[in-house]
Amino acid sequence: MNGEPFASAPYVVGESETVSAPPHIPAEESLCPVVTHDWVNPEYKHLVVEASPKALTVAPGQFFNLLCPSPDVGELFFRRPQSVYRVIRTRGRIEFLYKCVGRGTRGLATLRKGDDLNMVGPLGIGFKLDPAWRHIVVLGRGVGIATLGPISQLARDRHVGVTAILSARNPDFVMADALFREAGEVVSVLDTDGTSAVENVEHILQGLIANDRADAFFTCGSNRLFQLMKRLGRAHNIPGQVAMEQVMACGLGPCYVCVRTFEVNGKQELRRVCIDGPVFDLQEAVGW
Ligand SMILES: Cc1cc2nc3c(=O)[nH]c(=O)nc-3n(C[C@H](O)[C@H](O)[C@H](O)COP(=O)(O)OP(=O)(O)OC[C@H]3O[C@@H](n4cnc5c(N)ncnc54)[C@H](O)[C@@H]3O)c2cc1C
Ligand code: FES
Repeated sequence: MNGEPFASAPYVVGESETVSAPPHIPAEESLCPVVTHDWVNPEYKHLVVEASPKALTVAPGQFFNLLCPSPDVGELFFRRPQSVYRVIRTRGRIEFLYKCVGRGTRGLATLRKGDDLNMVGPLGIGFKLDPAWRHIVVLGRGVGIATLGPISQLARDRHVGVTAILSARNPDFVMADALFREAGEVVSVLDTDGTSAVENVEHILQGLIANDRADAFFTCGSNRLFQLMKRLGRAHNIPGQVAMEQVMACGLGPCYVCVRTFEVNGKQELRRVCIDGPVFDLQEAVGW
């Protein structure tokens, strides 16, 4: 022993002497200064951080495991997974859009401008965008809307048309429609006026299929909407991907807390959402 610590130190964004993990290591721990952190409605916060070069390599659908400050006197043992909502590489920034649901996210909500957010990532397997697709449909609800932001950005950058169907309880919870409008057309469907009913969303999707605007489906955030896309995808032979959310512990593969059942060629298979996903083939996922 030469007195050096076994684990490598986190990459500290803004300190020029720190070194990002080498290219063969896909993820790293980094300390990222908070740039802004605002409520977008009574339940959701939008968090913008300065990110490390490694973190900025994050692909659509991948996630970070965030060390959340404790919101009280107790300790918080596990990190909390959050997918990326937007990446602005030219400014070195990563954005998250998250719902405050429990101790972890309530603790995360206490971070202020200038504080450091400790993130591990980028983690997991994200979405794929086939160069043959000319128009994709993204369908999200609740926290799932955040996860679909980067694939819509990527589609726009590659001149692929995007229709984003955003499902929400009421107009206050239609988040990120500006970001999706930059990528393409946005259709908001609400519980308050009944437009979020599965039958209506099916009608919208059937219209897109009939008009040749659905080369691929992407979904996150609602089991009912996932089941709908899966059924229509199977009926019309449209490929699809779903980003799954699952309670996680390590986020890296060894603990098996995040295992779910999948159906592959008629056989049941167990897969870990953190490293085999969180994005899976729509037809292989079983739902939740
Ligand atoms: C890959 C991945 C990406 C995610 N991306 C986002 C995101 O972009 N925005 C966002 O708001 N949330 C996202 N989540 C969900 C987020 O991780 C949970 O909301 C968070 O871990 C809850 O922690 P907590 O301590 O605040 O709540 P807890 O006290 O742990 O739980 C409070 C409630 O939230 C539920 N919950 C806990 N963990 C999850 C989970 N992983 N998924 C769904 N429900 C959960 C619990 O069952 C409980 O009902 C993502 C989850 C995964 C696995
Ligand atoms: S969270 Fe530990 S294996 Fe997936």
